[in-house]
Amino acid sequence: MKVLVVGGGGREHAMAWKLAQSPKIQQVYVAPGNGGTSRDPNLINVPITDGVDLRQWAIDHGIGLTLVGPEAPLANGIVDDFRAHGLRIFGPTQAAAQLESSKAFSKAFMQRHSIPTAAFETFTDAALAHAYVDRLGAPIVIKADGLAAGKGVVVATTLAEAHEAIDFMLLDDTLGVAHNASGARVVIEEFLQGEEASFMVLCDGKNVVALATSQDHKRLQDGDLGPNTGGMGAYSPAPVVTAEVHARAMREVILPTIRGMEKDGIPYTGFLYAGLMIDPQGRIKTLEFNCRMGDPETQPILMRLKSDLLDVLMAATSEGLDKLELDWDRRVALGVVMAAAGYPMSPRKGDAITGLPLDSHEVMVFHAGTTEQEGQILTSGGRVLCVTALADSVKQAQQKAYQSASQIAFDGLQMRRDIGYRAIKN
Ligand code: AMP
Ligand code: GLY
Repeated sequence: MKVLVVGGGGREHAMAWKLAQSPKIQQVYVAPGNGGTSRDPNLINVPITDGVDLRQWAIDHGIGLTLVGPEAPLANGIVDDFRAHGLRIFGPTQAAAQLESSKAFSKAFMQRHSIPTAAFETFTDAALAHAYVDRLGAPIVIKADGLAAGKGVVVATTLAEAHEAIDFMLLDDTLGVAHNASGARVVIEEFLQGEEASFMVLCDGKNVVALATSQDHKRLQDGDLGPNTGGMGAYSPAPVVTAEVHARAMREVILPTIRGMEKDGIPYTGFLYAGLMIDPQGRIKTLEFNCRMGDPETQPILMRLKSDLLDVLMAATSEGLDKLELDWDRRVALGVVMAAAGYPMSPRKGDAITGLPLDSHEVMVFHAGTTEQEGQILTSGGRVLCVTALADSVKQAQQKAYQSASQIAFDGLQMRRDIGYRAIKN
């Protein structure tokens, strides 16, 4: 079988790398891919980003299965379109992807189905939003309604910050949010305290299988300080997700979500990612849903997956997840993101990357914002690489990842030095 991975980030490099290990696969294509997938002899990049062109290409090339990495094509309806043309594809439909693409949709959905989440209100009118924030006080959280690549959320510690965020999201159009049909909207919600975890599952519309647990670091700087990013590193498993928290997440969040979507007439197929806030008593609230796997969480998770990913996806696209059990490496995997100068606000492109080590079963350098030009690898986006290592403990995986990362260089590189610290402290 020939398979296609849609996307060009670190998550998609990891997906393609993992699929290429399946003996049942003849060829893995990645559209558009990146410098890492380009230099991997087992993968072929396809320079197409338009959904309709890609569907035609998939038909012409006899693609047997398509896996979609990022949220944007899902929110644009790539799954609906491929299916309408008889192609097998794994991901949520456009309607189901609203769990991520609209904060207002997902908050209303959670409220309707009694799924624990922070108290909130939705606003289109800036004056009403300002008055609401004045009434509730800080800290408070302001979220743009629409896809914003991880930059549409402001956790305001002061009222001034909250007011500024409202004006920025409702009145200024420079944030780069893809507004939903109703125009600019914000969700304002209660500030939650605790520890976050990324809880991901596979759904076939009816059945659910949980993936290994993971945790990422969203802030740019050590000690979880600085601006929010798409994620500066991640590891799996996440000790904060104890057996009890796991059972609770399935019972209180995941199963009601899958049943709720079915009941609402929008059955959910694809990966589902619940961002959870876990308080010291082990109670959980849902911070957000993503309609895809996390990036960079995917990189450590897939390094630990021993099952054949093709078998998993074939089961997931034929309502066969009730018969599937996933096999995981017992070791820990930890990935450190190396980001470009200027990330997250205005990443610089075109810096030459040197010192890339040879990939191995224990240390993989997954590429994201890279491109290959005349045999040289250059930076081409915000998050550039994710150096991911497998080892017997978090500490050892951390040492191994940083050892490998320390050989890699490019001008202006930004990297946290403390990925995994929460799991080491525990
Ligand atoms: P979201 O995209 O909704 O997950 O928000 C991005 C990040 O903002 C989350 O990973 C949290 O770190 C933080 N965040 C979001 N909502 C809240 C909240 N209600 N309380 C505290 N932190 C939050
Ligand atoms: N790492 C967080 C995300 O993928 O949304």
